[in-house]
Amino acid sequence: MSAASTTGQIADPVREAHRRRTFAVISHPDAGKSTLTEALALHAKVISEAGAVHGKGGRRGVVSDWLEMERTRGISITSAALQFEYDDCVINLLDTPGHSDFSEDTYRVLSAVDSAVMLLDAAKGLEPQTLKLFDVCRHRGIPVITFINKWDRPGREALELCDEVQERIGLRPMPLTWPVGESGRFHGVLERSSGEFVGYERTTHGATIAAENRLPPDEAQAEVGEDWDRAVEEAELLSASGGDFDAEAFYAATATPVLFGSAVRNFGIGQLLQQLVALAPRPEPRADVRGEPRELDAPFSAFVFKVQTGMDPSHRDRVAFARVCSGAFERGMVVTHAATGKPFGTKYAQHVFGQQRDTLDLAYPGDVVGLVNATALRVGDTLYTGKPAVEFPGIPSFAPEHFAVVSTTDPGRSKQFRRGIEQLSQEGVVQVLRSEKRGESAPVLAAVGPMQFEVAMHRMENEFRAPVRMERLSYSVVRVLGDDSQRSMADSRRSEVLDRDDGTPLVLFANEHEMRTMQRLHPELELRPVVGDDS
Ligand code: G4P
Repeated sequence: MSAASTTGQIADPVREAHRRRTFAVISHPDAGKSTLTEALALHAKVISEAGAVHGKGGRRGVVSDWLEMERTRGISITSAALQFEYDDCVINLLDTPGHSDFSEDTYRVLSAVDSAVMLLDAAKGLEPQTLKLFDVCRHRGIPVITFINKWDRPGREALELCDEVQERIGLRPMPLTWPVGESGRFHGVLERSSGEFVGYERTTHGATIAAENRLPPDEAQAEVGEDWDRAVEEAELLSASGGDFDAEAFYAATATPVLFGSAVRNFGIGQLLQQLVALAPRPEPRADVRGEPRELDAPFSAFVFKVQTGMDPSHRDRVAFARVCSGAFERGMVVTHAATGKPFGTKYAQHVFGQQRDTLDLAYPGDVVGLVNATALRVGDTLYTGKPAVEFPGIPSFAPEHFAVVSTTDPGRSKQFRRGIEQLSQEGVVQVLRSEKRGESAPVLAAVGPMQFEVAMHRMENEFRAPVRMERLSYSVVRVLGDDSQRSMADSRRSEVLDRDDGTPLVLFANEHEMRTMQRLHPELELRPVVGDDS
């Protein structure tokens, strides 16, 4: 599965970076993300039969959906990277959680990708989850390729779906293929660059790669008739209305190439892969905290975008996922942990995708390195070799909207309770807020979505064996207290001041009205939005 680990000798990092395409799929649950992941891997021949990547619906659960809770809730919380080679490129597909309650995790993953594939269900179009995730892409300026899925069954009109993308998220659609025949009565697609027809041939529920049946326009007309004429007419209309591909607009994230297909039937997947290879941006020098770009051929550097414990239930080990930004990573090398200045050994470097793990020997810019038992590493940390030191900007925290006081119901487990809370905080499962008033035994957990509390509770009980009680607080609005000396002013009957684990003092209010009232009463109070608020 690992493309980088089989190469042996260290190669030129710049040339290797240029071969990398690192992206994530964003979609609403059930749009077909797992199926698409399988189909992409199948095309790259990583797995021989669809169903080996995700374990839903009775399919073989070889690689992901490992956690019991993920399985029962049909969501995927863990993030990891699937790597495969395609057409002399190395594709890194980073997994994102399948629920908006985990959009903070998605944000972290999206900080590690160079592009995203927005997957839409042809019958549903843009759904709330997709909108929220797309906002994260917009916030980060990530170029987006759109794949309209499930074209094998009845859905909405192609033009209507494109209009929706334009109107609701402001991305100009640039269809690269255009469906011939409406959804559910689908013959194939018109490939706009060549004008050729790519016919759709049924496979048995996606078990094999669908054969590509290509025909020139006149033969397509003879075979498909009216539906071909209509597709040609609509494609001409697209050209007249600004729907032709414009690379600059794509890289500026103001327009999106669109493809149509069916993940479960493996149709359109080859085209998507080809476009990822041809269009998706490759790794570029990343700016450090001073805004200086770290060149791709500079000594090794990487930043941690995800920390996850218990991915293998039998080991309960902790894996920190780092994206390589420059240089070559060689397993066993000793790197510097920028946050502490301490050396950090990398003997246990792995490729991790769900339950599947391979030793990773070499990695290049764009690749993801899983560092096992990296207890010192936190989300946002930088690792590097050589001089001078480098540090990449941290990953901002979202403004939480849900709050709960947590305490253990078993006083004999208070040590495990504290350890568990610390761990969840370091992984970013929830934010942990503390104050003298509440004490160490009853911190406040803060979350973007309430399902994060469920995960925290589940893990406290099952992993740390510290049964907990959670009491929801009626706060929903949070601001950063700009001036620490105003603490007593901000702590009132209508608000509470708590410290985030990075030391930032936060003020919690029941609602916007309460916050505005507070500001009227104390105009000198310095309240700032939490970074990441607008995403
Ligand atoms: P997710 O990860 O985004 O949540 O979606 P997933 O891939 O699990 O797909 C959700 C459902 O949609 C699955 O059906 C899957 O088979 C179906 N699906 C995915 N792509 C296509 C497609 O191109 N066409 C059609 N017709 N269906 C598609 P399910 O009944 O929930 O599961 P299963 O029993 O089929 O595995």
